Amino acid sequence: MNAQWTPDTWRGRPIRQAPTYPDAARLAQAEDRLRRYPPLVFAGEARRLKAALALAAEGRAFVLQGGDCAESYTDFTANIIRDTFRVLLQMAVVLTFGASVPVVKLGRMAGQFAKPRSSDTETVDGQTLPSYRGDIINGPEFTAEARIPDPARMETGYFQSAGTLNLLRAFASGGYADLHEVHRWNLGFVARSPLADRYADLAHRIDETLAFMQACGITSRNTPQIHETDFYTSHEALLLPYEQALTRVDSTSGDWYACSAHFLWIGDRTRQVDGAHVEFLRGVKNPIGLKVGPTTEADDLLRLIDALNPADEPGRLTLISRMGAEKVERLLPPLLRAVQRAGRRVVWLCDPMHGNTISSNGGLKTRSFDAILAEVRAFFDAHSAEGSWAGGVHVEMTGREVTECIGGAHGLTMLNLAERYETFCDPRLNAEQSLELAFLVAEELKARRVPAHTPSVAAQ
Ligand code: PEP
Ligand code: CO
Repeated sequence: MNAQWTPDTWRGRPIRQAPTYPDAARLAQAEDRLRRYPPLVFAGEARRLKAALALAAEGRAFVLQGGDCAESYTDFTANIIRDTFRVLLQMAVVLTFGASVPVVKLGRMAGQFAKPRSSDTETVDGQTLPSYRGDIINGPEFTAEARIPDPARMETGYFQSAGTLNLLRAFASGGYADLHEVHRWNLGFVARSPLADRYADLAHRIDETLAFMQACGITSRNTPQIHETDFYTSHEALLLPYEQALTRVDSTSGDWYACSAHFLWIGDRTRQVDGAHVEFLRGVKNPIGLKVGPTTEADDLLRLIDALNPADEPGRLTLISRMGAEKVERLLPPLLRAVQRAGRRVVWLCDPMHGNTISSNGGLKTRSFDAILAEVRAFFDAHSAEGSWAGGVHVEMTGREVTECIGGAHGLTMLNLAERYETFCDPRLNAEQSLELAFLVAEELKARRVPAHTPSVAAQ
């Protein structure tokens, strides 16, 4: 594993989930052009995120990672980006204010285009075609032509990521994320929801707090945190030719950084310790993630931690548990214990989405809000029992009023699914369900955090 690393050493390793491009010359030309384009993110930003994640590894911050299962080239508008950003801000403020903990905000945005699939092919009405693998690889339409992997799609992905990032940076630092705006983030259908009063009450308390702080001389002028926020981007590092082309040497440190996003993760299907995806990510200095699904053995996990974070740098590695509500109680504790016994510093996130996908009667993929909550609760319980810090959540969500997951305050049922089922891949929480989840997570956090952080009488 300590062999020499370069951005292309993954090419000598077995690879899963990789598309076969029919025209190698066109692929090479697209990679060449991408190599010459400017980086999308900068090493200093990735280091800043790593430092924020190091706090989460120490139990001093909470991570909120969320966004689409798959971003789409056809649904690419300012409103869609703004709405997802807005709900993430709302969730973050609920968590920060409700549980008095700093929240690291990480979008599954600006590059979340490539999808691993359980089957290489899809059959509809007797016709079998290659599976759709995400807009950066092929098209979702069920035609032979659309399903051919097209390298030109990598460049479209790069430019769409650049456009998305540009807007996100403007939102994060241009006044939209100012805490004085919390009331205004709650536009649209959440304002008509059973959660509206709860959110309005929280916004009101934030206003009072800001007025009090202003009276004490703490204002947006002298305290930028009131006026702007740090928002980072992430996606699954699945399409390695694209990731390699955007990997650059940082001129200040001389280190390699993946510059397609601040944070990249390895999916549950591509986490083989000798495989191409682990080989690629071990060599870049970004903070990275690893999905940990129900087939993960403790020994394998420790080998992966050694490969991906040999120096045990806090903030470097985030483990994203996605066991399923029914399995998490049995499967997670042995892994928490193994990591603790080995003394490895990691951030643990709960992805309550990917182990809880079911099929509706009509054949649509869905997830039940109850199962999602059950997995989150069991995740917190397992951490409490092992004395380890439940470091955050990773969710598939959107700011749109979709009907893709069942349950939640509006009691969506299987019968509602067809009304607004818009996802290109997995079912997402809508804005209201996302906010409801944030309130519940804030309660869990508050309940578990207070005793551990109450100073003892002797210390006062
Ligand atoms: C995903 O996060 O979209 C995904 C495919 O997850 P996993 O690798 O955990 O199945
Ligand atoms: Co998904």
